[in-house]
Amino acid sequence: SELSGVVEYRNVTFAYPGAESPVLSNISFTARPGQTIAIIGSTGAGKTSLLSLLPRLYDAAEGEVLLDGVPVNNLDHAEITKRVALVPQRPYLFSGTIEHNLRFGKTDATDQELWEALRVAQGESFVREKSKALESRISQGGTNVSGGQRQRLCIARALVTKPRVYLFDDSFSALDVATDARLRAALKDTTADATVIIVAQRVSTITEADQILVLDNGRIVDRGTHEELLETSPTYQEIVES
Ligand code: GTP
Ligand code: MG
Repeated sequence: SELSGVVEYRNVTFAYPGAESPVLSNISFTARPGQTIAIIGSTGAGKTSLLSLLPRLYDAAEGEVLLDGVPVNNLDHAEITKRVALVPQRPYLFSGTIEHNLRFGKTDATDQELWEALRVAQGESFVREKSKALESRISQGGTNVSGGQRQRLCIARALVTKPRVYLFDDSFSALDVATDARLRAALKDTTADATVIIVAQRVSTITEADQILVLDNGRIVDRGTHEELLETSPTYQEIVES
């Protein structure tokens, strides 16, 4: 389609409003449909800040973030959210039913679409096991589901919107290694034509990424595949060994 989902960061520098020094400096990379780009780096490196610029939670001070060749600063939120889904680091659920939570980004989704999204997100069985299934209530802040279940519901919510670009911010950290692996295998099929940008803590989550960006103190210090970085990047080696 004409909305292909090419993401480009061009020499992006960003400081939070009122802050003296930038948290991101001179960030450049391109992510294309069919690719998975991973971002890894220590806590505070700027991974969440980097993702936040595409859906315009903040705007970059210098440089440009482009979506299909158009600076996002020229696009409104509705145009961006039609193409981009962000699964935030702290996944949020609303008080209401599971169904209500899953339809948040696409109110006309069918039940079948909701179940398909749950299947991919590895959330099908725990929702089926609830007596009211999709009509089960989530309490305020989602306190009656576990952290891992909350993450999977938020991943399913993103899948329901069928975006061109997925942004996963540390979305797999609350899952055990086996569930993480199953989820990524299912996602790989479903998101095969989309652009996927994934922030991860665990190296095992991103070893198959087409390109890994190593972020340190707001800068991309190294980039390459897992195998390339193992050879060339001391920062990456440290992360692997930690
Ligand atoms: P982890 O999620 O802990 O792995 O870190 P991260 O790599 O996602 O870092 P993040 O982008 O959240 O933060 C980068 C830097 O920006 C840190 O020094 C934060 O303290 C700072 N920061 C994050 N959010 C805000 C904000 O809303 N305002 C201000 N002023 N600083 C922020
Ligand atoms: Mg973060």
